[in-house]
Amino acid sequence: MIFYFSGVGNSRWVAEQIAEALDEPLVFIPDAILEEKSYTLQPDERLGFIFPTYGWGVPTFVEQFIARLRIENVGYLYMVTTCGDDTGMTYEIFCKDVQRRGWTCASAWTVQMPESYICLPGFDVDTPTKEARKCQNARQRVVDIVEALKTRQVGIIDTIPGPLKWAKSHIVRPFFNRYLITPRYFKATDACIGCGKCAQVCPYHNILMKDKKPEWGSDCVLCLRCYHSCPEHALHWGKMTKNKGQYLYHGGQ
Ligand SMILES: Cc1cc2nc3c(=O)[nH]c(=O)nc-3n(C[C@H](O)[C@H](O)[C@H](O)COP(=O)(O)O)c2cc1C
Ligand code: SF4
Ligand code: SF4
Repeated sequence: MIFYFSGVGNSRWVAEQIAEALDEPLVFIPDAILEEKSYTLQPDERLGFIFPTYGWGVPTFVEQFIARLRIENVGYLYMVTTCGDDTGMTYEIFCKDVQRRGWTCASAWTVQMPESYICLPGFDVDTPTKEARKCQNARQRVVDIVEALKTRQVGIIDTIPGPLKWAKSHIVRPFFNRYLITPRYFKATDACIGCGKCAQVCPYHNILMKDKKPEWGSDCVLCLRCYHSCPEHALHWGKMTKNKGQYLYHGGQ
């Protein structure tokens, strides 16, 4: 069984590839939260968590999901995180999250994919060339991950911590989560045509259309799917996204 989250489609693509190759069920974390179901794994069934790296760590809503998940028969457990650049200490943070449940992470991988974060100066989507290269590399990487998972490899820590990993995950991350994971600055500009696409695509149903304009509730994880999906590029996060690009996973072709 694979539990996954994805904002702009990178982690969804990885999760779908792995689920298909291993013939295992795939569950979208926001759906699982809504359904409040309990799960029982088959004997020898693998348990995977696949999610994007946020602020050099496991997204806090994924951590909360792991803490509350009702599941029996947990054995072989792994994580795959996608990122634009590097993951800091996401692996170590994930290990602690699952250890609190009495579980052990057997193996972990990072798949570098096109950038989705655009809410700070210096962060923007990748150029088409870089995007294509990352998607091309990701295809081979997923093949390798599937091979390792088929034989339930233990002890693989194939992640991309990057430089200054401790500072990023222990100093920047708390600040990032506290002040920057917020819908407070979202706004639709005059270019908005009231199509409602942003509301339709929000995985947390956090956007309501009022008088043909989107309004954001407080239940936002900053996945940025609304921003990247707007057909008029009319949705912005304060001034930070001015002149920034849009990206949704399409295979880099
Ligand atoms: C809120 C947020 C924080 C992010 N933080 C990081 C990060 O710390 N390191 C990184 O390399 N990429 C970071 N990214 C980029 C995403 O991890 C990357 O583009 C990922 O593949 C997106 O996956 P998704 O399509 O499944 O949402 C961040 C993206 C968002 C939206
Ligand atoms: S997707 Fe864009 S154009 Fe459509 S309602 Fe949302 S902000 Fe407006
Ligand atoms: S409001 Fe936008 S950024 Fe927030 S969860 Fe919904 S789609 Fe993601």
